[in-house]
Amino acid sequence: MGTWILNGKMIGMGDNQERHHLFIEKGKIVSILSAADGNPNTEHHEVLNVEGKLVSPGFIDMHVHLREPGFEHKETIASGTRSAARGGYTTIACMPNTRPVIDTPETVKLVMDKAAAEGVVRVLPYGSITKNELGRELTDFPALKEAGAVGFTDDGVGVQSAQMMKDAMAWAKELDMPVIAHCEDNSLVEGAAVTEGAFARKHGLKGIPNESEAIHVGRDILLAEATGVHYHVCHVSTEQSVRLIRQAKAIGIHVTAEVCPHHLVLSDEDIPGMDANWKMNPPLRTPRDVQACIEGLEDGTIDIIVTDHAPHSAEEKAKGMLAAPFGIVGFETAFPLLYTKFVATGIWTLSFLLEKMTSAPADVFGLSWGRLAPGADADLTVIDLDEEQAVDPDTFLSKGKNTPFTGWKLKGWPVMTMAGGKVAWKNESFRFTNE
Ligand code: DOR
Ligand code: ZN
Ligand code: ZN
Repeated sequence: MGTWILNGKMIGMGDNQERHHLFIEKGKIVSILSAADGNPNTEHHEVLNVEGKLVSPGFIDMHVHLREPGFEHKETIASGTRSAARGGYTTIACMPNTRPVIDTPETVKLVMDKAAAEGVVRVLPYGSITKNELGRELTDFPALKEAGAVGFTDDGVGVQSAQMMKDAMAWAKELDMPVIAHCEDNSLVEGAAVTEGAFARKHGLKGIPNESEAIHVGRDILLAEATGVHYHVCHVSTEQSVRLIRQAKAIGIHVTAEVCPHHLVLSDEDIPGMDANWKMNPPLRTPRDVQACIEGLEDGTIDIIVTDHAPHSAEEKAKGMLAAPFGIVGFETAFPLLYTKFVATGIWTLSFLLEKMTSAPADVFGLSWGRLAPGADADLTVIDLDEEQAVDPDTFLSKGKNTPFTGWKLKGWPVMTMAGGKVAWKNESFRFTNE
């Protein structure tokens, strides 16, 4: 028995946004038919009639924190993948800043085994660049690759030594693996929790300067040029980083970049007070930086959108703006936020937004997912573009409720997510029209 998903609105099918019927069997998409060609024979198959709702390739998030092993009070692979599915994601790449750090093949395997047993979406682990992410000694890149790591990164901290980064890039290049960088020069940020800008001045706080990020971006671009590695910049947040990446791409250096929803819709001027739900690293920057990130995404300087989903417990976040850890959750607000702010307002097309969350990350990292086509894995999300709801962290499937978007009225909520043909999550109040 297979499954028919009937009457889905599909974007990018030869620019034809008309309704399509999609047939799934054994976890794969078998066929996609235009509804204009009539009704298929659905006898003996499961039928899910979505009646004009958007059917998108499942979203791909190449930057997330699942916290397992070691910080299960913040998130687990079970809770994190359910949260991802509720946000429409079917493939997520998890950062190695767990405890232990994902710096050995055993830990890579542990995460993959847990994900296979307890996860509801695909989980791709990164291995760390340095042992314990301490910046002192490289990990065993070939062994991490062999175990299934999809790239190397010390996300959470920047690699402070240029020589260490150069060695890492040279080795990754030999193995045809990407280096993914959290760009931050520690000497410029000590003791700072928010960006240099209006909010820091108003509250008399030390600020995180834009150069703390851009210095690493510039340094690493030169090292990527020297080594030829695929260098991917994490969570771009400053005008200067966008400029450097744009120039590097123009001269053919293999650099790619990502941006987070919060850096596209919030600036430091939106921070209401000393509330750690507005604290993340890199921090919310100035309106000028926000504009530069938007333009960077629009002109292709920035390739993809990621959430940097970073759950923390309520107790940890209650310590306040200065003492609380950096990070906000992202899975369950990303699409409605960007759809409402950029697509419903006519600034972007729907296909532009979907591309940055599906096929673009697949292309940047050489993944087989991110497109709906016969033969592809049946990874998809059904979205109600008209449904408007206020963000309520109590409904999040993530253990983390740390979001600055509480109460925001947003449109474009996923109603069902399927990974490998299996329902990974479904909104319980959603009914297919044939039910
Ligand atoms: O905000 C952040 N949270 N930035 C990081 O670099 C790390 C992450 C985390 O692990 O919480
Ligand atoms: Zn980071
Ligand atoms: Zn991160």
